Amino acid sequence: MAPTSVIVRVPAKVNLQLSVGPLRKDGYHELATVFHAVSLSDEVKASYAEPGAGITLTISGEGADHLPVDETNLAYRAAMLLAARAEIDADVTMHLNKGIPVAGGMAGGSADAAGALVACDALWRLGTDRDDLMDLAAELGSDVPFALHGGTAVGTGRGEKLMSALARGSFHWVFALADGGLSTPAVYGECDRLRDGVEVPDPYVSDLLMQGLRAGDAVILGKALSNDLQAAAISLRPSLSQVLETGDDLGALGGIVSGSGPTCAFLARDHEHALDIAVGLTSAGVCRTVKTATSPAHGAKVVG
Ligand code: C5P
Repeated sequence: MAPTSVIVRVPAKVNLQLSVGPLRKDGYHELATVFHAVSLSDEVKASYAEPGAGITLTISGEGADHLPVDETNLAYRAAMLLAARAEIDADVTMHLNKGIPVAGGMAGGSADAAGALVACDALWRLGTDRDDLMDLAAELGSDVPFALHGGTAVGTGRGEKLMSALARGSFHWVFALADGGLSTPAVYGECDRLRDGVEVPDPYVSDLLMQGLRAGDAVILGKALSNDLQAAAISLRPSLSQVLETGDDLGALGGIVSGSGPTCAFLARDHEHALDIAVGLTSAGVCRTVKTATSPAHGAKVVG
């Protein structure tokens, strides 16, 4: 019997390294990035809808009222795309429960799209194979394939070409969430502006970072964190420097802007240390709120 509803949990990501190469002719930048899934997550519920009902989308959780519920929402587009490829009508009632900061540089929208693909695939009993789901994910956005993949992976191309990376152990994080988001295209645009006239080298993955991951060594990993979009995010949101400095003063093993920001990610030694950093950031009053998380986390997964 077909399920009447499917719940999928999908993780947020942090780019442990985001090396941004030259601007391509198609408007994207060539990347070499190390994606890492963390335990902040969204849940996507897809429920049966009568034939002809179309797609209904509702959203709850932090920041939900800022998100569209029509075809401009990536989860909505994911359901439409999957149905079109399978040549069926897209009839589904979808609900997103947000635990990933909205427009925070942690790929929350991409996570919802990946969740919608997996949830609708199960609800509609399509049995789409993994590679085809990955291709659909890449069509929806550069970060969507990783939300399906989870764990740790090196992303190349515009970020959509993935190779699993070897990582040992688990890590403890603190995320400092800002008021309001930053637009990804605006941050890439600012990066281009700051680099105007500068020869941009090809993107690369740091050996030290891969070594830290292979050894499960948070101290090495903390030293190797890097993000080429950080200067651009700070240029658009100067208060982020203060957040990063505060995390550093609190003894974080490393701190970076997550993706295109404005969330800042801090690596801690262990759970206790993460709590100390979280308390310190909160009392310094440099961010809207803080969240702690562990990593690596699973990719999009049916949980109910
Ligand atoms: O692929 P996605 O739709 O998530 O990308 C959003 C925007 O981010 C793109 O329109 C582009 O401006 C920028 N981007 C980029 N290079 C990448 C990925 C994204 O310039 N590799």
